[in-house]
Amino acid sequence: MSTRPPSDRLAAVAGVVAATPGERVLEVGCGAGVLVTLLAAAVGPGRVVAVDRSARMVAAAARRNRAAVEEGRVRLLAAALVDADLGAERFDAVVAVDVRAFWTPPAPEWDVVARVLAPGGRVVLGASVMRPGDADRVRAEVAAAAGRRGFAVTAAAQAGTDPFPTATIELRRPGGG
Ligand SMILES: C[S@@+](CC[C@H](N)C(=O)[O-])C[C@H]1O[C@@H](n2cnc3c(N)ncnc32)[C@H](O)[C@@H]1O
Repeated sequence: MSTRPPSDRLAAVAGVVAATPGERVLEVGCGAGVLVTLLAAAVGPGRVVAVDRSARMVAAAARRNRAAVEEGRVRLLAAALVDADLGAERFDAVVAVDVRAFWTPPAPEWDVVARVLAPGGRVVLGASVMRPGDADRVRAEVAAAAGRRGFAVTAAAQAGTDPFPTATIELRRPGGG
């Protein structure tokens, strides 16, 4: 019997995020909410807000994370990030996996991230590496889009996940702002 977790791709990203109890995490493009579950378990009494522009995906994420939503530890929003009502919430980490908007100009998503990320916060992006060269290309495009908003790549790695490797990119504001 396989001991593989439900998504080792998303588990690999959760490992890079390394959220700790009490942290506030925003996931962009949460899909069916698999990573939301992992993040909510990691932050415990903290909070996970997840947005996806697909109402169908948000409904699936709500079903998967029903208890945490009812407890108020997870909030799900059906909206594109640029339209999402995040109020005054600030986040210690922002996470997105396979959300091309972050490396497709003009990538206005970065303006939202710059606004809602708490001082000292981190951004972790994951990308499935389906073709040779994908990881380098995505890293370069992310660095360019994020760099225009004052972020710099602070770590990059690749995990041997199935069916495709997963590239991860961590970004922060230089100086911790
Ligand atoms: C390829 S799927 C990845 C889903 C999930 N992150 C995963 O890795 O399994 C991309 C998801 O991001 C959502 N999405 C894309 N751009 C978005 C944006 N700007 N704001 C919110 N959601 C977005 C899509 O609706 C879709 O559910």
